[in-house]
Amino acid sequence: MKLTKTEQSFLDGKHGRGVKRAMEILVALGRIYGATDMVQVKSAQIAGISYKNIGDPGLEFLTDWADMGGYAHVPAFMNPSGIDRQMWPLLGFPPEFAAKQLQIIEQLKRVGVRATLTCAPYHIGLAPERGEHIAWSESSAVSYANSVIGACTNREGGPSALAAAFCGRTPRYGLHLHKNRLATHRIEVASSMETSADFGLLGFLVGKLIGTGIPFFQGLSLPDDEVQRTTNLKSLGAAMAASGAVALFHIEKQTPEADLYGDRIVRENAETIPIHSLDEARDSLSTHENRLDLITFGCPHASIDEIGDIANQLNNKMLQKPVWIATSSIVREQARSKGFVDIIERSGGNVLADTCMVVAPLSEMGIQFIGTNSAKAATYLPSHQGIVTHFGTTEQCIESALEGQWQN
Ligand code: F3S
Repeated sequence: MKLTKTEQSFLDGKHGRGVKRAMEILVALGRIYGATDMVQVKSAQIAGISYKNIGDPGLEFLTDWADMGGYAHVPAFMNPSGIDRQMWPLLGFPPEFAAKQLQIIEQLKRVGVRATLTCAPYHIGLAPERGEHIAWSESSAVSYANSVIGACTNREGGPSALAAAFCGRTPRYGLHLHKNRLATHRIEVASSMETSADFGLLGFLVGKLIGTGIPFFQGLSLPDDEVQRTTNLKSLGAAMAASGAVALFHIEKQTPEADLYGDRIVRENAETIPIHSLDEARDSLSTHENRLDLITFGCPHASIDEIGDIANQLNNKMLQKPVWIATSSIVREQARSKGFVDIIERSGGNVLADTCMVVAPLSEMGIQFIGTNSAKAATYLPSHQGIVTHFGTTEQCIESALEGQWQN
């Protein structure tokens, strides 16, 4: 692999042991994937920071790396953790878990990673530019950055994203190269697409069908309304990244590269898959149970508009089951200043910051039945936490929380 003088000096340890370790990780990755050189990145988003996933070995690894020195040389920010840093005692999160989670966050702060604790950094002014190279690791954020914005990132692991933050570089392979961004499948959508939940179902189906492929959607119209459009694209990408490992998608005439290259963004030998119905996905994500312990929204993290929409739907009605809406602390403050948090709390719900429901210790807290409007959460909660999950529209989730049991 060709390294610049600066990169070689990172590897030689001239900038400290922490940077040396980072460069060793990047070079090893580059060798594995056949990269010829490094590409400079403008930002890094670090996932794999929840105590539920990385445990004590992960905390020790991060502490050890922080002790070696080194500092993020490009803007670097954290994915959500397993707790809300302010509200965890109020919501009954286990203190031992919270203490460990806070230690992980502190170690990352020591090396210059901002505690944004969100999987939707594009909602808080941290969106990359089109064509920009970045090193992001949360799968839905990767999908959104690549597909909707037109930035270039592989689906990094937590350590490789942190290494990229330390060195401001990542190996040039995978989705950093145009030739690897061509669609592998044409997806002809003939089913009707009404709600963002439908986009989640479509994503779930396509992710299962194509795995690591790159879809080019045809016949998929997006709403003119910018807010609804963003929500639908978020749902689609997050679900494909969860049921499969799709890191990039194109939509004919809609997403940046499909718009720029037209049909040339599709490989000649691309397989065509028609989608006539979402029923199979709906069945896979449904359960015959009615029991409900909690409704969660915000996977990926909710925008201010999504929170406003839920607040409007609640409109001072009293919830029979708790509703948690996950977002970033910045968006929560915006929601507070607009009065949305107050409305939601008066109904008995909560807006949580910093938290990912999938890696929060929900099963340890006795939660066994969850309803959600997120196909990604509905994919992961049963497999990661053994939680029975109901999937439905936002309206269906709210109605269920008001009734106290899942409404089919
Ligand atoms: Fe975000 Fe966690 Fe969902 S990181 S996309 S809330 S699984």
